[in-house]
Amino acid sequence: MPKILLTGALRREYDSGQLLEIDMKDNPFEQLKLWLAEAIAHPVRLPDAMTLATVTPEGVPDARIVLLKDLDQSGLTFFTNYESPTGQHLKNNPHAACLFWWPEQERQIRILGKVAVVTEKISDTYFQSRPRGSKLAAHASPQSEVIKSREWLDQQLESVGKSFENQEVTRPPHWGGYRIIPHTFEFWQGRTNRLHDRLKYRLEKNKVWILERLAP
Ligand SMILES: Cc1cc2nc3c(=O)[nH]c(=O)nc-3n(C[C@H](O)[C@H](O)[C@H](O)COP(=O)(O)O)c2cc1C
Repeated sequence: MPKILLTGALRREYDSGQLLEIDMKDNPFEQLKLWLAEAIAHPVRLPDAMTLATVTPEGVPDARIVLLKDLDQSGLTFFTNYESPTGQHLKNNPHAACLFWWPEQERQIRILGKVAVVTEKISDTYFQSRPRGSKLAAHASPQSEVIKSREWLDQQLESVGKSFENQEVTRPPHWGGYRIIPHTFEFWQGRTNRLHDRLKYRLEKNKVWILERLAP
């Protein structure tokens, strides 16, 4: 296999901005909200896409992207299939890391926290807001299982569509939300000469947020 060139021309300086303690909100949820608003306005493509890392029962890390669907002081909410590896890992070990990377702004946010299943009401309300096709897909697709073919999946969708004909598509019990309840947030802003700004909030005694600067 010919080597792909990942050095030289790909090397870049990061010089979009800076991050100073004085500009940081006292509360990291407010800081995240501010950065999300700035990412949306920039605009960053897919500002709501976050990499979510979980751990298998064997202690092996695994990661995938999910979409952030709600954010408030109680945490970050995303929706998935409870039976796929994400759900299985979280059932066994309810700790997760999640990460936003916004290249257009040279910003990264790392979040660590515990994860809890949201209420059925929250899952129902969000499920009902989805387009009909996505609702049907949640019934049709055994997420992350090996399947025979694309045709098989399309047939599943067709058959689920028929079973819900002229009816509201209800949320399948295996599909719903999780909330990440963070204890650590790190805000990263790329700077020149690899001397990036890194400001980390950690929750002390379960109630006070402490802000600290980390070496890049
Ligand atoms: C941009 C993007 C957004 C995604 N959003 C979600 C999501 O919100 N929920 C979800 O379950 N999977 C989402 N996926 C698919 C997941 O990355 C993954 O394939 C799926 O959740 C199965 O992961 P698992 O086998 O680790 O459980 C998204 C993928 C991409 C690339």
